[in-house]
Amino acid sequence: SDKCWAECLDVAVEVARKAGKVVQEAVKQEKSVSTKSTPTDLVTEADQQVEELIISTLRDRFPSHRFIGEESSAAGEKCILTDSPTWIIDPIDGTCNFVHSFPMVAVSIGFAVNKELEFGVIYHCFDGTLYTARKGHGAFCNGVRIHVSKEKDVSKALILTEIGAKRDQATLNIFSGNIMKLLSAPAHGVRIIGSSTLALCLVATGSAEAYYQYGLHCWDIAAAAVIIREAGGVVVDTSGCLVSKCPVSYWLVQEEA
Ligand code: IPD
Repeated sequence: SDKCWAECLDVAVEVARKAGKVVQEAVKQEKSVSTKSTPTDLVTEADQQVEELIISTLRDRFPSHRFIGEESSAAGEKCILTDSPTWIIDPIDGTCNFVHSFPMVAVSIGFAVNKELEFGVIYHCFDGTLYTARKGHGAFCNGVRIHVSKEKDVSKALILTEIGAKRDQATLNIFSGNIMKLLSAPAHGVRIIGSSTLALCLVATGSAEAYYQYGLHCWDIAAAAVIIREAGGVVVDTSGCLVSKCPVSYWLVQEEA
């Protein structure tokens, strides 16, 4: 199976590159934008087309595998994680950036078996940077080994976060409260780049010390979690517990009844 997952990773890289090229072209075109859960939760026709492209290509190659995708899920498909090989896909991470042509947009493809993440691929659609990692085999940026920062002092840290799609008062109060605490620590800085997967890749390369966000979905973090771990970092839940297995409930993925 180890050899088989290595082959799956090669296919994932191929598909992520192909999807990334489609996104790169789509960003120059007129976008047809709609909203999902809130007025700031955006989706475009490109999100749906790219997810369809990724899933149909992978399904052709691996007919017995299962799929969890952001847009399939938005369209009402249940997110079911079983022990079967499962692909976890965000076709366009940073949809709001995509809509505004703000150059932080990625294709994210994670792969889990027995509910454990085996590998992750994240492709930066604007500059073509490719992040990959396979469990036990290290993390790479364009084929070069990457490592997280060694800095442990929050007052010397650059910290990344994302706001998510909710804008109700309670969410905004928590969000700004957290940033206030970090800035008065004082952390060197706090950044919001608009793509959770690329933010996590920047932690993996050591360009930032940490990333936090409430309300992440499994497709925001599946691929990135492997990349972070293989770069020597840790992924923890909101209680500070190590998230070692593919964290089913935490990522809002329902178990099959
Ligand atoms: C979103 C982006 C955003 C983050 C959200 C994600 P999407 O992904 O990464 O920065 O705050 O939590 O869902 O919807 O653009 O694929």
